[in-house]
Amino acid sequence: MANTDSRVTIHMAASLDGFIARKNGSVDWLETSDEFADGETMDPGFVEAFLKTIDCYVMGSRTYETALNFEAKGFGWSYGDKPTFVLTRRQLRRTRDTVEFYSGDLVQFVNGLKPRFRSIWVVGGGALAGECLRLGLADDVRYSILPILIGDGISFFEKLDKDVALHLAEVNAYKSGIVELHYEVRGAKAT
Ligand SMILES: NC(=O)c1ccc[n+]([C@@H]2O[C@H](COP(=O)([O-])OP(=O)(O)OC[C@H]3O[C@@H](n4cnc5c(N)ncnc54)[C@H](OP(=O)(O)O)[C@@H]3O)[C@@H](O)[C@H]2O)c1
Repeated sequence: MANTDSRVTIHMAASLDGFIARKNGSVDWLETSDEFADGETMDPGFVEAFLKTIDCYVMGSRTYETALNFEAKGFGWSYGDKPTFVLTRRQLRRTRDTVEFYSGDLVQFVNGLKPRFRSIWVVGGGALAGECLRLGLADDVRYSILPILIGDGISFFEKLDKDVALHLAEVNAYKSGIVELHYEVRGAKAT
């Protein structure tokens, strides 16, 4: 039986023109410097408490490879000790016990997570986010807009071939110039 309380959230950061990475996969533009005087300050305590509410992460293989590169450069592993599921049809290096690989039907896979996890976070990339929305698997979209335009790149939702109606649930603007938008996918659950 699926856990009816569980929610699937897509979360990524993107440029104002809707890109999550440059065409070559680079995310060098994520470090922006801006100041919005009226913005909120991100409280590290709140962020830490919020991250604890996430029960597992799901990502595409290219995002996993980026995460491994970040770790190799000394930036750490962003997903803590939470179970992290990587979608791939390739044989990839497994660097920790919390990582599991999956290749198969995405609907069956996500529905299979629901009895075990309440808050399921899909953390990219664009190919996986597009697939989740196309298949009607996402309940929430959390979109952090960075104060930058990069002109070209990998879209937040790659190859999305239909309209998806959203309900704007929350907006937060931060001192860093980042705007966080939280949308609920209409028709997903109680929207
Ligand atoms: N700005 C941000 O917040 C953010 C967040 C995440 C990622 N990124 C960036 O986005 C880029 C990666 O995004 P992307 O769209 O190119 O790739 P992606 O979504 O991370 O990964 C796509 C890959 O996932 C696998 N996959 C997807 N659906 C699958 C399914 N149903 N079954 C099995 N495997 C499946 C396939 O891997 P195989 O080819 O291995 O089979 C596919 O090639 C990276 O540059 C990363 O740094 C940015």
